[in-house]
Amino acid sequence: MDRFTYRDGVLYVEDVAVEDIAARFGTPVYVYSHGTLVTHLRQVADAFADLAPLICFSVKALSNIHLLRGLAAAGAGVDVVSGGELYRALLAGVPAQRIVFAGVGKSDEELRYAVRSGIRCVNVESEGEMRALARAAAECRMPAGAAVRVNPDVAVGSRTPAKTTTGRRGGKFGIDLDRVHEVYRLAVDDEWLRPEGLHFHLGSPVFHPRAYGDAVDKVLTVTEKLTADGAPVPTINIGGGFPADYEGSGVPGWSDFAAVIAPKLRSFVAAGGTVVMEPGRSIAANAGVLLASVRYLKTSGSRNVVITDTGMSHLIRTAFYDTFHFLWPARPRNGLSPVGRTGEHDQPDLARYDVAGPLCESSDYLAKDRLLPSLRPGDVLAIFTAGAYGMTMASHYNSLPRPAEVLVDGGDVRLIRRRETYEDLVSAEVDAEAGPAAAGTTKPA
Ligand code: LLP
Repeated sequence: MDRFTYRDGVLYVEDVAVEDIAARFGTPVYVYSHGTLVTHLRQVADAFADLAPLICFSVKALSNIHLLRGLAAAGAGVDVVSGGELYRALLAGVPAQRIVFAGVGKSDEELRYAVRSGIRCVNVESEGEMRALARAAAECRMPAGAAVRVNPDVAVGSRTPAKTTTGRRGGKFGIDLDRVHEVYRLAVDDEWLRPEGLHFHLGSPVFHPRAYGDAVDKVLTVTEKLTADGAPVPTINIGGGFPADYEGSGVPGWSDFAAVIAPKLRSFVAAGGTVVMEPGRSIAANAGVLLASVRYLKTSGSRNVVITDTGMSHLIRTAFYDTFHFLWPARPRNGLSPVGRTGEHDQPDLARYDVAGPLCESSDYLAKDRLLPSLRPGDVLAIFTAGAYGMTMASHYNSLPRPAEVLVDGGDVRLIRRRETYEDLVSAEVDAEAGPAAAGTTKPA
């Protein structure tokens, strides 16, 4: 599935040993595989081939402009949720007609920016936003595509964290099913708005194809009523949320989702409708690793604690959602390649470690109670499945500069984001009095 593999006891990304990347660029560093990203994109397209969907990669998962450029060249559009993400997408050369814009709290500036950019559609999440979008389009004297994000109120199952469940009644996302018709009509009746269709996003990750089936059923019912009422629904956007394999098994694949979703949407597509999808994690997670170095080893009571040079400010998922990331040395001592991903196997010479970061926060762990080959200061560790919601959720907490990012394509290695400096940490403060223009910031207006 991905192109991170151990060969003769050494971890490679595509044709490059990751320890060479660590030696050249230092750690911590995010390393991405172009081949894996593009392969995953193709796998989605193949699984859903009979719907010929527009696949809009979710920028919030992985937003480096060089990676977006690669995905766009492979045919992807993007899903953005802010003016900042739209700026990145346009800079990366994503065609405007392949950009969709969700998010519950878009500002007037962001809406005008979207309208002026001529994106495919704004996925509107409230009646107030529909009115704001109509104003923005009128002010710009430009037509704007408006879709309604539906809150389908479907159960996604308990494996989806509550913190990332988005399609339940009572939450902040989308518009309740019983109000969709009325809000959609605002777009139909407006001089500048072009009704673009319906959208939903259930949560992330969602492990039950049936949840998508239930949501599609509900959205198709609304579609029928709208169509009967003379309101065109040219697009149905089924969102993202498809899982990535963090633990090496137990995750449904693309074909499992397609088997439930595609038959339901076939006649919509046959009648000329377009299906949009917004996968993020399922494309990006296993296309990236975070490389860290071991700094210190110590014991605390009966526990072996490893302190690395990266932690929750660079990869917050474990601390925030209590999720699992497999990790293993880039060159394990005794050549011990991993067997599976859960670590609970009976190879000799493994020891139990808690793997922590350097931050002053007791939740700053990457893993706890993990069986690993013996570690020493200076060893490079790979934290797997870090390509989605890794760098995009990184912060400056504890004033640690954010990691570099490196892209590997076959044997080619490219620095696509330099490591931040102490000057980067304070540049917006140093420039504060001079204002954003002097600081070179683009403010969409
Ligand atoms: N579309 C919309 C409107 C979304 O809100 C999201 C994710 C996606 C698409 C992409 O979902 P994906 O295919 O990546 O599951 N930070 C969390 C995940 C939050 C996801 C938020 N919305 C994490 O690290 O698990």
